Amino acid sequence: MVSQPQAGADVIRLALPDVGEEELAAIAEVLETGQLTMGPKVAEFEQLLAAATGTEHAIAVSSGTAALHVAVLALGIGPGDEVLVPAYTFPATANVVALAGAKPVLVDVDPVTMNMDAEDAEHRATARTKAVLAVHLFGRPARLEDLPDLPVLEDAAGALGASHGVRACGGLGVLGCFSFHPRKVVTTGEGGAVTTHDAELAERVRQLRHHGWSPSDRYDDMPRAAFNYRLSDVLCALGIPQLRRLDELLAARERVADAYAERLAGLDVVLPRADDGDRHGRQAYVIQLDRRDEALAALREAGIQAQIGTYALHRLGAYRDQGSFPGADAAFERALALPFHTKLTEPELDRVAEVLRRHLTSSE
Ligand SMILES: Cc1ncc(COP(=O)(O)O)c(C=O)c1O
Repeated sequence: MVSQPQAGADVIRLALPDVGEEELAAIAEVLETGQLTMGPKVAEFEQLLAAATGTEHAIAVSSGTAALHVAVLALGIGPGDEVLVPAYTFPATANVVALAGAKPVLVDVDPVTMNMDAEDAEHRATARTKAVLAVHLFGRPARLEDLPDLPVLEDAAGALGASHGVRACGGLGVLGCFSFHPRKVVTTGEGGAVTTHDAELAERVRQLRHHGWSPSDRYDDMPRAAFNYRLSDVLCALGIPQLRRLDELLAARERVADAYAERLAGLDVVLPRADDGDRHGRQAYVIQLDRRDEALAALREAGIQAQIGTYALHRLGAYRDQGSFPGADAAFERALALPFHTKLTEPELDRVAEVLRRHLTSSE
């Protein structure tokens, strides 16, 4: 495979955070106070996130993976338990279940929406199944109401700002998990958060991120074993201006999505969209097409960064033993992430579309 072109003058970037002077000033302010962690910026970031997801509680943590890990543990999932996870997702979704001592049971995905296939989920649920870990992949809201009647944990890593009907992703299940990695709409470099309506679960998540400690514990005791999964004030300060501009950021990404759709109309590609009545989170712009690897190579050769969508877990060493997943295979072989950020220019979009047009018309 042709390697990713390195960022440079003429290279079109896959992702580019929308950050600038405001973020710089916010970070400088934290540095001046000298309180770099467990300070007021964490609380402010969490309040903004709770408001954006329509939840009562948001708890900032150090990554999306940390968010998923504490969410699984907060539900008391452990050895002997099974959790349904989609076979097509970033591996962290399943890894956290395995690392909690439980079994991630892979469920096939719908080859078009690339989200969990509800019928297959029904087939794979057993008496040991304690929860469904549903992913809103690339920001497309999953139809959680179709899934088996089990507690739903949302992997909303890429779904900040997405909504299913009128309800925001991250507030649809018992716990929602977000990532603020630089390929996300809002980034803190590395970072994550858990959201919930449930005060008890929120408290458990807070303990798990902070050495098991709770404000009601004796000052000289730490009664539970847990992690340091905190997010610093420096990083929360970086995220705050972006969270305040969330609607603006989403609208800008929607305009880029529309611009791609216009340019790719009539070609034999599946474009990313949400169900009617839903709002797509536009974390990534992932199309599906035949001969994906050739298209990926052609883009990279033209100085355009591009990437596969994500991973088919049953093709990874860690999860090879769970049978066949034709929907996940199709998604894995056909999905292609195009450059997608708010600073893409019209000529850059033209360049991407032209390479794809040449690729798609050359096979006939
Ligand atoms: C669906 C999904 N879940 C979990 C994660 C893990 O998030 P992080 O990289 O912040 O640990 C990602 C990261 O890209 C993801 O896409």
